[in-house]
Order: sequence, then structure tokens, then C-alpha cells
Amino acid sequence: MKSSWMTERGEPVSCGDAAALALYEQALTQYQSYRGDPIATIEKALASAPDFVLGHALRAMVLFSFTERRFIEQARVSVTTAEALLPRANPRERALVAAARALVDGDWIAAGAALDRVLVDHPRDILAIQTGHLVDFFRGDTVNLRNRIVRVLPHWSAGVPGYSYLLGMYAFGLEECNQYAEAEETARRALQLEAKDAWAVHAGVHVMEMQGRIDEGIDWLVSREKDWAPENTFAFHNWWHLTLFHLDRERYADALAVYDARIHREPPDPALQLLDATALLWRLHLDGVDLGGRAGPVADNWAKRLETERGFYVFNDMHAMMAFALARRDAEAEQLLSDLDWTVEQGPPTNRSMTRDVGRAICRGIRAFGQERYGEAIAELQPVRDIASRFGGSHAQRDVLTLTLIEAAIRGAQPALARHYLAERLVLKPDSTWARRLQARAGGLRHARA
Ligand SMILES: [Fe+2]
Repeated sequence: MKSSWMTERGEPVSCGDAAALALYEQALTQYQSYRGDPIATIEKALASAPDFVLGHALRAMVLFSFTERRFIEQARVSVTTAEALLPRANPRERALVAAARALVDGDWIAAGAALDRVLVDHPRDILAIQTGHLVDFFRGDTVNLRNRIVRVLPHWSAGVPGYSYLLGMYAFGLEECNQYAEAEETARRALQLEAKDAWAVHAGVHVMEMQGRIDEGIDWLVSREKDWAPENTFAFHNWWHLTLFHLDRERYADALAVYDARIHREPPDPALQLLDATALLWRLHLDGVDLGGRAGPVADNWAKRLETERGFYVFNDMHAMMAFALARRDAEAEQLLSDLDWTVEQGPPTNRSMTRDVGRAICRGIRAFGQERYGEAIAELQPVRDIASRFGGSHAQRDVLTLTLIEAAIRGAQPALARHYLAERLVLKPDSTWARRLQARAGGLRHARA
């Protein structure tokens, strides 16, 4: 009886409520497309079908994907409810609930592995794929951003509902593995199937960011704006990418206009958006741009989260530290450093290791840079720059570490060190004007040939 119910991709579901299952499918699409509110949709399903195990698992995983502790307690309620329903669940649902348990307990590595085990028998399980992809992103598992998708790809084709989103994830994974041509081609294929896939748009823009194709990147985003911007909760991040291109071209007024209208029209509530706002301000600061009072509200926003988010995710903490440095909030900066010491000793498992391995040193480096102790900033950042993927994010996001390192070397009278790292940009992003600005300040390459 139970096995007669299936998702649109053929996975068995232990739920005999067709309306709830239809809402589950809708919530899954909202989760993948960033259009609509998957939490509201699945809560509607759960209101009529409170024993819908899969619905509770989805709610927990979507709440996790916001990467803020304030949502984890709600997610934990869903996991606990689902666990009480496990006797009537099927093996796939039990495995998904186990993965959700690992997520709310802060063991993101175990969660990623548990989600992968689901895919062994159910390679079309979108909930497992989508959540696994995000877990890989949040913990910087570059290879699995690509390979988790590769492992299920043979089981998909254009006729399977949701295929375009799978291609969008694959494109991003290829990009993070530096396979730029394949990534761009895959992103374009995904967009041919679903032009409004903001994640596929994003994969394409990452290719252009990494290759320094500044003008193409602007065109890629601007020409598609009607597809990725309206009614899309991920739009702020693609706007952020647009500001990086403006910044490269010294169009500071354009970057700030996008910031004011699209990224920080009012203090953002999602940490993911606040993070992008902060990262842009930090880059502008590195490039010597007057922020005109924008740092204060961002620092205030991070400060009010300090206590509730303590020890949750050091990638967020790095951005909080940037805001505190920009706004010269010494007390909050010191509190955060103290919190990071606590995290290394007692934090939840995955964030504890991320903080210990790279995050604490990076936050110390940002703090030192903000206090113009450039030698110390270099001493903190240089050893962890090449392993910084361990605390999550994308290559483009973590590029801020290299920019900070180069700037610290220039301001700290170590031009040879600045040139050493700058060489990467000049070679890999030959059209980047920011790279040339830095080169002019760092001096010419000593051994360059005419
Ligand atoms: Fe991005």
C-alpha cells in the first residue's frame, strides 16, 4: 500500500495524501529555483498531513540551508517529529531523516555522507541531491560539488522533471573544479531548458569571474536580468556578482548604486545577503573607495547576531569581522575572536574543525588588517590561503583573502610578496583592470621581460 505512492521521479513515499505529495513537489521546485517559499508550502502540506515524514525532512533541510543557528532550532523540531514517525517510514525516508539529524547536530560532514548514501539507491532524489550540493558548498567540498552530481547524472535525462536544475548544479561544480569551458557549456544547456534557473545563471557568471571576462560577465547578467532577478530570493547574490565586475572596472558609483538598490536597500535579514553586502564593502575598502557611512549599519546587523550565532559558521564570522573592522567596532571584534577560541574547543563538530583549521586565523588576519598591522595580517592569512576552501564558499568569495593579502603586502611595504600573489591575477585574469591597478602600486615585475 505504502509503495504505491511515489514522487514524480519514481521514489517510493510512505504518504497516502496526494495533496501533501503535490505540495512536496512544489516545495522541492521552490527550493531548487529560489522562487516562492518552500517552508510555507511544506507547512501547508504538514498541516493536513502531520505524519508526512518526507515533508518534515524537507522542512529541516531548507531551514538548514539558510546557514543560521536561529533557524536550526526550528529545523530540530522537524527532525524530532520525523524521528517519532520513523516506524512507518521507508528506508529512503529513514536515511534522509538521519541526514537531517546530522545537519541540526552540526555534523555537516556526516550529513553529506548520509545524503550520498541515499543516492546509491535513489539517484533521482532531488531533496538529497540539492541539500548535498549545498552542504558541499557550505563546507567547501569542491570536488563533490561536481562529483556528487556526476555520480547521479547517468540516471537523469531531459525527460526527468527537474533535469535543468541538475545541470545548473553540475555547471557550478565544474566551475569550482576549474573546468571552465565545460561549466559554461553546461550552464548554457541548463538555461536553454529553464531560463529562470538562477543557479545556472550563477554558474555561468562564476566562469566569467574566474577568467576575468569582465565585460562578458556584465552582459551575461544584464541581458538575462528579467530571468534571474524578479521574485527570486537568490537575486541578491547575482547582483553582488555584478558589483564585482563594476568594481573591477573602477565603476564605483555603479557598484554602490547596485548595493544601495539591490543588496542593502534596507538592513538584510538573511545572513547570506548580509554576507554579500559586507564582502562588497570590504573589497571597496581594499580598493580605497569611501564607503560613505555604509559600514555602520552592516556592523550593527552583525553585532546583534553575535550571541545567537556564536560558534555556528565561521564563514559568516569572517564577514562579521570585516564589518567590525570597517566600522572600527573593537569590542565586537574582540568578542568574536574570543567566541572563535570557544568554538575551537567546544563548537559543533564541523564548524569546530573549520574554525580551527582556517577560520580563526582568517578572522585574526582581517582584524589585524583593520588595525593596520599588516605584517600580522600577512602572517595569519598566508598559511591558510591555499587551504581556505575548508571553511566553505566559492573560489570567487574566497578571492577576498588573496586581495586582502596583496593589499596588506603593498601597504606593509612588502612589494615582492604583493607581486608574488598578483602574478596569479595577471596571468589568470588578463583582462582585469583591478589586477593592473594593483600591479601599478606593487611595482613592476623584477624579472619581467620587455
Ligand atoms: Fe557566487
